[in-house]
Amino acid sequence: MPTMNSLLLHCRPGFEGEVCAEIGEHAGRLGVAGYARARPNSAHAEFVCSEPGGAERLMHGLRFAGLIFPRQWARGGFVELPESERIGVLLERLADYPICGSLWLEVLDSNEGKELSTFCRKFEVPLRKALLKAGRLLDDQRKPRLLLTFRSGREVFLGLAEADNSAAWPMGIPRLRFPREAPSRSTLKLEEAWHQFIPREAWDLRLAPGMTAVDLGAAPGGWTWQLVNRHMKVTAVDNGPMAPSLMDSGLVGHVRADGFVFRPRRPVDWMVCDIVEKPARTAALIETWLGEGLCREAVVNLKLPMKQRYAEVRRLLERIGDGLAARGVKASIACRQLYHDREEVTCHLRRL
Ligand SMILES: C[S@@+](CC[C@H](N)C(=O)[O-])C[C@H]1O[C@@H](n2cnc3c(N)ncnc32)[C@H](O)[C@@H]1O
Repeated sequence: MPTMNSLLLHCRPGFEGEVCAEIGEHAGRLGVAGYARARPNSAHAEFVCSEPGGAERLMHGLRFAGLIFPRQWARGGFVELPESERIGVLLERLADYPICGSLWLEVLDSNEGKELSTFCRKFEVPLRKALLKAGRLLDDQRKPRLLLTFRSGREVFLGLAEADNSAAWPMGIPRLRFPREAPSRSTLKLEEAWHQFIPREAWDLRLAPGMTAVDLGAAPGGWTWQLVNRHMKVTAVDNGPMAPSLMDSGLVGHVRADGFVFRPRRPVDWMVCDIVEKPARTAALIETWLGEGLCREAVVNLKLPMKQRYAEVRRLLERIGDGLAARGVKASIACRQLYHDREEVTCHLRRL
């Protein structure tokens, strides 16, 4: 009998240690006994709970959107599958699970995972049919989502997660199309940040035409392109050249200056910053912009330190929070490693 009492967490390969540190810290705070384990570069970690109901308590005590390194999560356990009759085995195991409101088949963000995705696509149709027929699956978003993460064709994590407290996309990876006119691939990073941090229904209000924005470290202009695409007026700060096509839009002013020194003459709606710098320096910059009311919202990349990456990010976020509180500024602070992030995380801040 496999344990149903474990929490599976997907992540970018190479960040399993950060996920273990993060979930271990939360579990300790919430008094959920267990231990975190992971294989390096496996793109996932597991928190094995030692008490019944531990994984469920852990999920209910946390907001998924508040986690930094996990891309997706589910509570349940690994199940060995035979070469044939896989659906029969799954149905048998699911007898211990509640009836689910949706079904997602996922793989890990590893080379093995990529190889398995075709299998998953093919397997999904008959599985869905069988689950519907057996009454294990209803179309109801209030019921938990059934998440099957295949580690191989013979091993799957049979997991549950609440649809409103887990990733918004399978594997936590938004499928964004690269806009051909954008001057750099990093354009997708800002778009992903918006998807991640701003509810879709708030885009028209918070990413509205005519708003003003400052893009620090803007060249060649991938992030500026996103702002211009929302019809905002952008001050692009960088000593490097901006793509001429962007300048033709008439919405961009290019300022050749140091992004750490530049201040706008009037407060702007948005500040975005993609300068690769020591994270402590970037954190101080965020505090200044939000603290002095130079912008209302910000998306900023924070480069990760070499060691103690989770602990260090937490420390920097606390420092920003304390700094703003000391100035009497209320702000929401969120931070995530996005799919398009490599050795960095992305912070979103909003004055309240
Ligand atoms: C990762 S690139 C930005 C890419 C840009 N977000 C895009 O989407 O095209 C970093 C940029 O920061 C600029 N940069 C580095 N240090 C800077 C500083 N102190 N002030 C302003 N820009 C800086 C570099 O010239 C470089 O163009």
